[in-house]
Amino acid sequence: MGSARVFLLCCILAIFFHSVLCAKSRHFKWEVEYMHWAPDCVEAVVMGINGQFPGPTIRARAGDNLHIELTNKLPTEGVVIHWHGISQFGTPWADGTASISQCAINPGETFVYRFKVDKAGTYFYHGHYGMQRSAGLYGSLIVEVTDGEKEPFHYDGEFNLLLSDWWHKSSHEQEVDLSSNPMRWIGEPQTLLINGRGQFNCSLAALFSNSSSSQCNLRGSEQCAPNILHVLPNKTYRLRIASSTALASLNLAIGNHKMTLVEADGNYLEPYSVSNMDIYSGETYSVLFTTDQEGSKNYWISVSVRGREPNTPQALIILNYIPTSASNLPNLPPPVAPLWNDYNYSRSFSSKILALKGSPKPPKKHDRRIILLNTQNLIDGYTKWAINNLSLVLPATPYLGSIRYGLNNAFDHKRPPENFGPDYDVSKPASNQNSTYGSGVYMLNFNTTIDVILQNANALQANVSEIHPWHLHGHDFWVLGYGEGRFNEKNETQFNLKNPPLRNTAVIFPYGWTALRFVADNPGAWAFHCHIEPHLHMGMGVVFAEGVQHVKKIPNEALACGLTAKMLMNNVHK
Ligand code: C2O
Ligand code: CU
Repeated sequence: MGSARVFLLCCILAIFFHSVLCAKSRHFKWEVEYMHWAPDCVEAVVMGINGQFPGPTIRARAGDNLHIELTNKLPTEGVVIHWHGISQFGTPWADGTASISQCAINPGETFVYRFKVDKAGTYFYHGHYGMQRSAGLYGSLIVEVTDGEKEPFHYDGEFNLLLSDWWHKSSHEQEVDLSSNPMRWIGEPQTLLINGRGQFNCSLAALFSNSSSSQCNLRGSEQCAPNILHVLPNKTYRLRIASSTALASLNLAIGNHKMTLVEADGNYLEPYSVSNMDIYSGETYSVLFTTDQEGSKNYWISVSVRGREPNTPQALIILNYIPTSASNLPNLPPPVAPLWNDYNYSRSFSSKILALKGSPKPPKKHDRRIILLNTQNLIDGYTKWAINNLSLVLPATPYLGSIRYGLNNAFDHKRPPENFGPDYDVSKPASNQNSTYGSGVYMLNFNTTIDVILQNANALQANVSEIHPWHLHGHDFWVLGYGEGRFNEKNETQFNLKNPPLRNTAVIFPYGWTALRFVADNPGAWAFHCHIEPHLHMGMGVVFAEGVQHVKKIPNEALACGLTAKMLMNNVHK
């Protein structure tokens, strides 16, 4: 194995010269296209990559450079791919957000995503244009520690579970429904998918349920046949989990087995032992479990809906103890998830997630605090979500280019508000439910410490307040705390500055607030939004930008639309 020897030599040299010689470039050629597929045994059209759904899993090592040459084979729409959880430090144009970091890639065109994966962890990627994530454009991205480094925990083998939710209505029809006046809600998903597989017509555990669904009769070769995790007794396994759901908040459990959370969003956790776990859209985790149960049996791994009245059956896969036959169904009923609206349970689960000892600590003080009120509103009869009464509408020219080149007409230059009125009562529907569209940017001073308080409120209807998982691009933030009711400056005394977890996604619970802190140290323009696809589509997001003057030359392909395209043409003709 000549190449292995060269690689080894390179690593030895690297130790001497203290450099990153071992870092590898990994090249991928991808084509995005629509294809027929039956994710839940019902044939549909999905957005696939290289003929696969979900898209190919990327495995890399920390420090590697990825080159993904993405060709858009969709006949009539643009596409982009966002690398969820990757910082894109020095390559903000590769963040894959249409209208923010780049122009959508036109049909027939190719864009090369070049970026470094700098931190080991569990990540995923997904479409970030229109509602393409709902169409099935997603896949796993796993970054292992660099050679010679060790994870702070031991395991004998690993599995990867990418969770999502699936509707029988196409994402285009969903988009029209959501944008109609009056709005037509998309409802609950028909099926939950694990690694792109679920069963709509039948249940693996029909024997145990009193529902009318029939027992599945699958050969195993179907596109919807469940994954089986084959394990050896008395070993420890790492389960990597990512949620790419469009809507559903989930709870995962392994029958008879405890799990220990050790990683979240690419950051190590103080080991936290649980019998089931909540997981919100945009979050990733690693959990360890030990195969210490009776080896002559198989066990269920279940994924259930939380936070909304469930109308979607549990997703199930089988944990198979070798050499027991994998076709023996577990002889116990599947795990029962906590009640969907037991928010005390959810809050308590989330607040026990803490950083591993020795993790980076947050700065003691903030330079600026931005309070973001989350509301559901009406604009000329259209149902929208708004932040401090502005519903985000993305401009034709991506922010990164227009800010970098000072194109002043590309978006709203009015500063979006830092707070909301002192009289606003978050526990009731707003007295004035009107709102307006906005495309303004929160300009952050480079290298300053920003606090964001996400404030939840009552939606349009009385006694309704939903969960929103907020995801920040380009950074991790520390989750300083959760609280109920309206945030008050005095709540600062409750902040955890000792061992708050670093995350890129955090939820706000109904009627509550969540406090985040991050350092604005990554030159670029970054989305910060609710990860529920229909909510983002209805305006639930903001844009942050910092240090854009330090951004190096943006590739022309990222600028080939709107006012930046005009600018490029003028430069050529000068
Ligand atoms: Cu995974 Cu902007 O989102
Ligand atoms: Cu939301």
